[in-house]
Formats: sequence, structure tokens, C-alpha cells
Amino acid sequence: MNAIDTVRQRAPRLQPRIAVVLGSGWGGLTAHLTGAIQIPYSELAGFPQPGVAGHGGSLWLGHLGAQPVAVLSGRQHGYETGAVDGMAEPLRVLKALGCHTLVQTNAAGSLRPEMPPQSLMLLSDHLNLPQRSPLVGLAGSERFVDMVDAYDPALRAHARGVAQAQGATLFEGVYAWFLGPQFETPAEIRMARLLGADAVGMSTVPETILARHLGLRVLALSFITNLGAGMSTEHLSHAHTLQQAQLGSQAASRLLADIIAKMDTLS
Ligand code: HPA
Repeated sequence: MNAIDTVRQRAPRLQPRIAVVLGSGWGGLTAHLTGAIQIPYSELAGFPQPGVAGHGGSLWLGHLGAQPVAVLSGRQHGYETGAVDGMAEPLRVLKALGCHTLVQTNAAGSLRPEMPPQSLMLLSDHLNLPQRSPLVGLAGSERFVDMVDAYDPALRAHARGVAQAQGATLFEGVYAWFLGPQFETPAEIRMARLLGADAVGMSTVPETILARHLGLRVLALSFITNLGAGMSTEHLSHAHTLQQAQLGSQAASRLLADIIAKMDTLS
């Protein structure tokens, strides 16, 4: 059975409007869902089998406030297989089920000393440093996607408003995508700063491109787990990323749940 039919069969009364991708440290969002149904990616044709510690592999369907949502807990990263289109089928399925907006989350390194670990950053734009695209090989003129305002200005203003009402600090800046899986060198971090980046990470950009190709509006948030390589004395590791992400997870998830629940006034 195709994935669209599987979801319709398992959650027949729910038409999701917002798709969410949970990155490292954002798994707490699923605790805010009401009436949640969880479907492992292994039961969904064409969905990837994530293989990274800290990343689940389930589609959750439920509500955040009155908002019907579909939450992708776990994404496939470019560094896992070399392919950057691993999330193409999940996003196509969620669009077909009724989603008009994609909310993305990730863990990232900060390039700004005044944006320390435990900060949250709204993406205003990105740098596709590997110059890889999930759209390579597609036909048709829709593949020439306009990437101006890829991170929707109205959704960003909405997120800033919700953060302000909660008294939460929300930074905003440019996310530079590195393919990974190795962390950056200090020279690469200096390069990214010179190029105007505010944070670095190993995800999100391919899914933003896929979403814009599908006509979805995009909002993306980074949880800052560390300063970029060479900016502090600390050594980076995946365990350190997960440990930092765990520390701030509850507050980040609460803010995200609120941002999404209140989006129903926008659309
Ligand atoms: N670099 C790349 N990806 C990351 C980092 C980093 O410093 N921190 C968390 N994810």
C-alpha cells in the first residue's frame, strides 16, 4: 500500500495542515500532541530508515491546540548515504494529505558569541555550501525554484510574536549547511562567518528546497548546542550535541508547540 493510503487508513479523521520535521533535541514536541497516532517509518512506503542516534523514525499525527499536524520525527541526512533527497517522499506525502506549511527544526553550532549554547535561532535565510540539491534530475520548469523569502517572512513575524509573548529570546539569522558528518574545521567556521552565516549545521536546507518546490511555506528553528569549532575550548561530538539539546529540550518544544498551535489564525 502506498504511504498516503496507509496514513488515511490509520488516521481517517485527521487532515494535517502543518508538517513538522523534528531534529536533535526537539523530540519533546510529541508530548504536546493530543490524540496522537504514531506510525513507524518502516510501515510507510518510500520513507527513510533513519540511522542516527537521537533521531527517531516515526510519523506522528495529532493536534497542537486546534491545529491538525503531521510530525516527522527523524530525517535522513545527506551524510548518511550521500543522497540529499531522502525526505522527498515524506514531504510529497504530507503535501498530498493536505499540509500547506513545513516547520523545520535542527541542532546547530553558533557563529555569534552573543548567541550561546541553549539559544534558539529562527532561520532568515540559508547558505547551501555543498551546492547539492534534491531537485537534480527532475524535469519541468517548476524545478527552477525561487529561493527569495524561502523562510516565510509572515511566519517568522508570527514566531517572533509568540516568543515575545512568552518572554523567550529568539535570535534570527542565516544557517550555513555543511554536508558533514565531520564537524567543521576552525578555518571553515571563519569562512562561514565571513560569508555572513550566523549558525552551522548538517540538515534542513535540502528539505527547505523540497518544500519550496512543493509550494509549502517554510519556517525553521535552530537549537544552538555549541559555538562553532575553534570559537571555544570545548571539543565537539555528537554526544555533546545530544546532551546540550536534551538540556534545553523542554523549553524549546513548549515554544514550538505554541508557535504552531497559534498558526491557525494565519491560514
Ligand atoms: N556544526 C555542524 N552541525 C552541528 C553543530 C556544529 O557545530 N552543532 C550541532 N550540529
